[in-house]
Amino acid sequence: MKTIFSGIQPSGVITLGNYLGALRQFVQLQDEYNCYFCIVNQHAITVPQDPQKLKENTRSLAALYLAVGLDPAKITLFVQSEVPAHTKLGWIMQCTTYVGEMERMTQYKDKSQGRNESIPLGLLAYPPLMAADILLYDTHFVPVGEDQKQHLELTRDLAQRFNNRYGETFVIPEVRIAESGARVMSLQEPTKKMSKSDPNTASFVSLLDSEKDIVKKIKRSQTDSDNQVRYDKENKPGISNLMSIYSALTGKTIEQIEIEFDGQGYGQFKGAVADAVVATLAPIQEKYEKYLASDELDKILDEGARKASEVANKMMDKVERAMGMQRG
Ligand code: AMP
Ligand code: TRP
Repeated sequence: MKTIFSGIQPSGVITLGNYLGALRQFVQLQDEYNCYFCIVNQHAITVPQDPQKLKENTRSLAALYLAVGLDPAKITLFVQSEVPAHTKLGWIMQCTTYVGEMERMTQYKDKSQGRNESIPLGLLAYPPLMAADILLYDTHFVPVGEDQKQHLELTRDLAQRFNNRYGETFVIPEVRIAESGARVMSLQEPTKKMSKSDPNTASFVSLLDSEKDIVKKIKRSQTDSDNQVRYDKENKPGISNLMSIYSALTGKTIEQIEIEFDGQGYGQFKGAVADAVVATLAPIQEKYEKYLASDELDKILDEGARKASEVANKMMDKVERAMGMQRG
């Protein structure tokens, strides 16, 4: 059985973008692959986090992983900082990475913008930690949204570089991008990706938003004034984004949507999008509440960390041996 690894940062409540770009695929993959899903709290702290919130977001993300339909009997769900091998291999991967490579990462360029003198070093140095996450488990495929493609290419380069230097150690992983919903855009600035850490909460739908908020956010989302439901990413990014979301949720193609809403205005279309989002999220929210209130959640995470450590420690042993870091 081939192996899958993916991670999500507990840096806020996850969004419709995370769901369509990442989580939804995970559910489909759990039957066919040996899956590791990680709550990457060490990635989240590359920018300052409020300790209480980080703690809450970690449990909340775990409950959401389960609420969307991931089965703890089939997958390994764990918190990154509870498996110390991640930072151990992360350091080794940093020593395999070139500074120039890091400065070219687009996520770094976006996230460091406007921070001037106070850019945390971890923000620059984080891709090797992500590579370590993946390489520890002999991962074959990494399901992520489009924004992570560049980090996956780097991971492949680092794995190859290490193998060339120290002998065959790592499996070279491949990226898997969702067919639809791989890049959901902000509802307020539709040329930017939807992000859970956006200070403007009107820009995203969170998986835990109330029906009322969902309807309000979709109805007030930025669109042009031409009032025709037609896909044109360049000139009509707002409406095109809503069409992509609607398509990902209903399985209808863009052409079918254009025909369905021909002659109807944005008001009606936005109503249909909001209905589709609410219909998808309502059953997830119901299960979420159940998981969050149960102590089963902590047991699942404890067991996940144990299972992940076992595999990860074996890989660390192999790596340290290959590098001459073990005396025996
Ligand atoms: P993050 O929120 O950065 O931890 O991302 C977790 C996962 O969700 C990664 O696989 C991302 O590629 C994916 N993702 C994040 N934002 C979006 C978005 N706006 N559209 C599609 N996928 C996304
Ligand atoms: N860097 C990813 C993000 O910002 C999260 C992540 C960390 C990840 N480690 C990973 C994703 C390993 C896939 C595999 O979205």
